[in-house]
Amino acid sequence: MATATEKPAKKVARPKIRQTQCFIGGKWLDAASGKTFDTIHPATEEVIAKVAEGDKADIDLAVDAARAQFDGGEWSRMNARERGRLMYKLADLIEEEADELAALETLDNGKPINDSRNADIPLVIDCIRYYAGWADKIQGSTIPVSGDYFCYTRREPVGVVGQIIPWNFPALMAAWKWGPALATGCTIVMKPAEQTPLTCLRMAHLAQKAGIPDGVINVVPGYGPTAGAALVAHPGVDKIAFTGEGATAKIIQRSALETMKRVTFELGGKSPNVVFADADLDAAIHGAHFALYFNQGQCCCAGSRLFVQDKIHDEFVDRLQDLNKSRRIGDPFDPETEQGPQVDQAQFDKILKYVEYGKEDGAKLVNGGARHGDKGYFIEPTMFTGVKDDMRIAKEEIFGPVMSVLKFSDVDEIARRANATNDGLAAAVWTRDIAKAHRFANKLRAGTVWINCYDVFDAAAPFGGFKESGLGRELGEAGLAAYTELKTVTVAMN
Ligand code: NAI
Ligand code: MG
Repeated sequence: MATATEKPAKKVARPKIRQTQCFIGGKWLDAASGKTFDTIHPATEEVIAKVAEGDKADIDLAVDAARAQFDGGEWSRMNARERGRLMYKLADLIEEEADELAALETLDNGKPINDSRNADIPLVIDCIRYYAGWADKIQGSTIPVSGDYFCYTRREPVGVVGQIIPWNFPALMAAWKWGPALATGCTIVMKPAEQTPLTCLRMAHLAQKAGIPDGVINVVPGYGPTAGAALVAHPGVDKIAFTGEGATAKIIQRSALETMKRVTFELGGKSPNVVFADADLDAAIHGAHFALYFNQGQCCCAGSRLFVQDKIHDEFVDRLQDLNKSRRIGDPFDPETEQGPQVDQAQFDKILKYVEYGKEDGAKLVNGGARHGDKGYFIEPTMFTGVKDDMRIAKEEIFGPVMSVLKFSDVDEIARRANATNDGLAAAVWTRDIAKAHRFANKLRAGTVWINCYDVFDAAAPFGGFKESGLGRELGEAGLAAYTELKTVTVAMN
């Protein structure tokens, strides 16, 4: 993630919460059942809003609206350049409201305001603009077939897409999914995570204000096994795009199979971050710290298996420990704060359970390991050394500020160990030897490899997982392709 340094001068005020209902066919509606669920501020555990709890009935309405817009509305038939113009307008409106949206993200998710204002929201704007530029550049090709025929392909929108997103980057995950869907002319039913529905609902309001036609973007907040499952099962949905836990993706895959929906998955991992002895140590230490602790460790690509070459291991760990201890943890509305609370009680409990596993399995707890304060879901930056490949903290996704440090001695050994997992989302390598870096990058079975950097994202660069870390790619031109069907047209020329 881009880490700008521009910080607001003083503590940021809490934003107003405006949209809490379902957004269906351009209207704000209570859930058909009348039910609501609470969303909380993770730093204080207080309820900040009651949000419409959508379920099957609301999903049915939303799919009908998206279907009607796709099958008979103006969106997919619109001049593509005009579709792009409306997307640019949406990006502009988000930019005008960037301070407020960032504060809303911080309120709902608990992430530090400095991150939401300088990483999440700018990346949202950039992603929508990037895909706006694609809207009128989606084209097929002419194919030299045998015989007296003219053959060409068209890239057509896949149709109504169901999009299910997690809570770690709520607005950004909405943008990653809306961008290619809007550019290609698809219509959308989005189910935001139950922990963090607010920025997505606000962005839906801004989309309407931008002039994106009613029914193009529909948002149904609610829980996964109810609203989410209804969306996946709905025969009127052509594709599901999901980001979240691998176990959830497998449930979704089975259900989506019934109607042969297209699926793309962006799941988690246990990404190896490998530091060779010839690395720029200052950069690698800061990089390793950022790779794991950024966003409270709640990143699908977190550098959670830190492999350090034996020659530099002890010095590296000493210096990393100092950096970890200096991390400023506290009120996410304070611009100086670097680490906020975990998103909810369930994540907090899961992370502390893994701290116990680390101790039970014989790793050495070097710093942290406990709750911070007595209110909110804060966990100290935590680091274990002496971690072995078969320990639970080296194998399973913790999704919190818990670092596992492993030692290695040579290149062949480390490539094998780095790949010895069912995941393959991201990896990084730190070395001054550029040939070694490239050789190593080629050996890694991961969708993204960072060399001497970490978490560098760009809307133009594809992102997604090898192996069990996902299916398909998001972002870039590859991300667009996942929202189109390829049609072949053959014309007799005699
Ligand atoms: P999850 O996969 O259950 O939730 C993600 C989204 O899927 C939410 O919108 C949720 O409502 C929805 N969902 C849940 N069950 C569903 C179902 N049966 N059908 C359709 N949609 C469903 O993830 P959760 O429970 O929030 O977190 C559990 C763990 O998953 C985390 O501790 C972390 O390890 C991992 N995770 C990974 C993420 C990533 O970016 N790769 C993001 C969030 C969680
Ligand atoms: Mg779950």
